[in-house]
Amino acid sequence: MSGPVDRYLELMMRCLTRELFLDQEVRDVDLTDWPGDRRELLDVLRPRGWRLVERTADARTRAVGHDWPPTAETMVGGARLANVTACARRVLDDGVPGDFVETGVWRGGVCILLRAVLAAYGDLDRTVWVADSFQGIPGPDGERYPADEGIDFSGIPALAVSADQVRANFERYGLLDDQVRFLEGWFEETLATAPIDQVALLRLDGDLYQSTMDAMRALYPKVTVGGYVIVDDYLAWDGCRAAIDDYRTTHGIDDEMVEIDWAGVYWRRSR
Ligand SMILES: C[S@@+](CC[C@H](N)C(=O)[O-])C[C@H]1O[C@@H](n2cnc3c(N)ncnc32)[C@H](O)[C@@H]1O
Repeated sequence: MSGPVDRYLELMMRCLTRELFLDQEVRDVDLTDWPGDRRELLDVLRPRGWRLVERTADARTRAVGHDWPPTAETMVGGARLANVTACARRVLDDGVPGDFVETGVWRGGVCILLRAVLAAYGDLDRTVWVADSFQGIPGPDGERYPADEGIDFSGIPALAVSADQVRANFERYGLLDDQVRFLEGWFEETLATAPIDQVALLRLDGDLYQSTMDAMRALYPKVTVGGYVIVDDYLAWDGCRAAIDDYRTTHGIDDEMVEIDWAGVYWRRSR
């Protein structure tokens, strides 16, 4: 029989992915994209405030984070949420010092979950750092980072979620307080000078070589022994994988990497 901490965190995960409410997880269809004829129907629907919605989600897809959800606060899916929860709990159980950081938060779901873990454990000392441009992924800088050449996610509206929206998402779960701190801006401008002393859990989710490397350079030296590094996109994006491989090779890191699902990996810092 699981106890209240397990039950609270399980509920949080299933809310944040919307796995509990998949039957209500629908995407609005823009009525101006109405296909075919019968456009006069629009004149009937619009004034009544009626919406057209598309059912998109299925349980298997959401469990492994294979879609961009219409309303869920995270796109990482159930398996990677379970991983980040397990890592956070392990460092708390083992007394590994340091804060929790995610670089690349989108709607904030993983950070909300990390704050929930601290709340469930009654931790009043650690901070959850929420690092993002809050305007999406930068365009590729192929000159400095050839691995990102041609990979352009900039200008995708769905990836640009404002800091105010992320704060509102924390508030929805009653988890916005001074143990949550936002680092707003491009990683190369915010992470190196952020007032973070020690990191017990570093979760990288910035997709590009540049975004991954900027985060590793600024924050890996602050990861404490016994802390975790989680890389959301290692198996999904070549650029991200190349950044991690380059950094590990340069710094002689040989801690075993463990696969989470089709996209994510993690390791535990041993020295
Ligand atoms: C795939 S989304 C993150 C998904 C999120 N972890 C979740 O739980 O759903 C990538 C995020 O990284 C941010 N990002 C990527 N590169 C960045 C950079 N160099 N500086 C700041 N933010 C960046 C984007 O704004 C976006 O919110």
